Amino acid sequence: MSTNNDSKRDRRQFLTEAGLGAALLTLSPSSVLADDKPINFAGIGVGSQGGSDVDQVVAAGGNLVALCDVDHKYAAKKFAQYPNAKKFTDYRVMLKEMGKELDAVVIGTPDHTHAVIAMEAMKRGKHVYCEKPLAHTIHEVRTLMAAARKYNVVTQLGNQGHSTDSIRRVVEWVKAGAIGQVHTVHAACGEFKDVYNQSRNLEKLAQKYDVPAELDYDLWLGPAAYRPYTPFWVHWNWRGWMPFGTGTIGDWFCHVIDPAFWALDLDAPTTVRAEVSGYDPATQGLTYPPASRITFEFPANKERGPVTLVWHDGNNPIPQPKDFGDDEVPRTGAILFGEKGMIVHGSHGGGGCHILPEKLRLENTGANAPKETIPRVKGHHWDWLEAIRTGRQAGSHFDYGGRLTQVALLGAIAIRFPDQTLKWDVKAGRFTNNDAANALINPPYRKGWKL
Ligand SMILES: NC(=O)c1ccc[n+]([C@@H]2O[C@H](COP(=O)([O-])OP(=O)(O)OC[C@H]3O[C@@H](n4cnc5c(N)ncnc54)[C@H](O)[C@@H]3O)[C@@H](O)[C@H]2O)c1
Repeated sequence: MSTNNDSKRDRRQFLTEAGLGAALLTLSPSSVLADDKPINFAGIGVGSQGGSDVDQVVAAGGNLVALCDVDHKYAAKKFAQYPNAKKFTDYRVMLKEMGKELDAVVIGTPDHTHAVIAMEAMKRGKHVYCEKPLAHTIHEVRTLMAAARKYNVVTQLGNQGHSTDSIRRVVEWVKAGAIGQVHTVHAACGEFKDVYNQSRNLEKLAQKYDVPAELDYDLWLGPAAYRPYTPFWVHWNWRGWMPFGTGTIGDWFCHVIDPAFWALDLDAPTTVRAEVSGYDPATQGLTYPPASRITFEFPANKERGPVTLVWHDGNNPIPQPKDFGDDEVPRTGAILFGEKGMIVHGSHGGGGCHILPEKLRLENTGANAPKETIPRVKGHHWDWLEAIRTGRQAGSHFDYGGRLTQVALLGAIAIRFPDQTLKWDVKAGRFTNNDAANALINPPYRKGWKL
């Protein structure tokens, strides 16, 4: 008969043998929970996506004990859905008051407050599920990656497609050489174009508004520079404003590029160059342009040659490839180009993934499909809880999700310097040829805030 510890070891061994790659990182035994202990967690920022994450963690077996939101009206539905959870406005007060009762937190706030909240939670030894992108600036991302290692906690970025079967299929095809060496990836996002470019609201920013009684605006701003309240940048809209959001690329890259990033071990590019259409210098530093095309060059590694990744957004679709037949270029998704053929897939874990041309598809699907080498998981939130229970890392832990986010944020910076090739030194964490771009890696926090 096996003991709990044996079964934990067995599960870790299974993952090792199955070659789960980076997700195999294990934690020290002290951070593994007893099998019968419920995982008590809190949701922070639950008015929209964070509330859905809370529901999914509950459905996967997590025990919700607290909810925190700076706007009790926007979060009212979620607060009412869980009457037994303690309610808070300030995550710092919540973390202090809940103390040891809390094992983990789920963060669904806007991008500019992910880092300070995740850091405070990790310092207190809490496991963290944080929505994508991991943070708002490259400095924050790199600091969170280091902190997750230091505090030895289980982390998961909210790119839920990472836990699908389809992403595993794409990775297995690439690793098995189904389309030959991959040299180029074209990816696109054609969603929510209205929100990422807020030019139409620029003039309205001067209008004066009272802060609604139910909103703690100071906490909503968090470390961002003070700007008078306007409804145009809170709740949902923030993603199009540079001080708070990260534009189309920040919002979608972690979903759309995840399959290629994993399959090709892309890590960091050496250069990034953006071409931007409809760019208005008056919006510099405030809102994202209506469309961009961003090219990243990744160096060769031991397994493959160099890879060019081209990101298209706004009204820039992926150009129709030669020999594409009747297939539709994904509006939001990617095409991996190999020496022998292509893999075409959608967003959120490569949904609808398939190989072109037809002959190559038949050679790599059904009975001819490559062996399943990567363990399947029961869902992204489940994977995080299971990792906490068994003392391994989750699939999109901060070391992986942080590197993925870092590339997205390099793109968000490149947009500010159209038609310039920025050279990136990943070890140093800086550009070697543009000081103005370097200033965007770690812009100062508002007084009273630190990471
Ligand atoms: N994984 C996905 O598919 C997916 C989908 C949508 C959004 N997201 C991500 O989820 C995050 C939230 O996006 P959204 O669309 O739900 O935004 P939103 O503005 O609609 O909701 C954010 C919530 O956080 C609350 N909040 C803001 N600052 C807070 C703070 N300091 N402390 C506590 N609560 C705070 C707000 O009041 C609100 O309830 C973003 O990072 C976004 O990129 C992910």
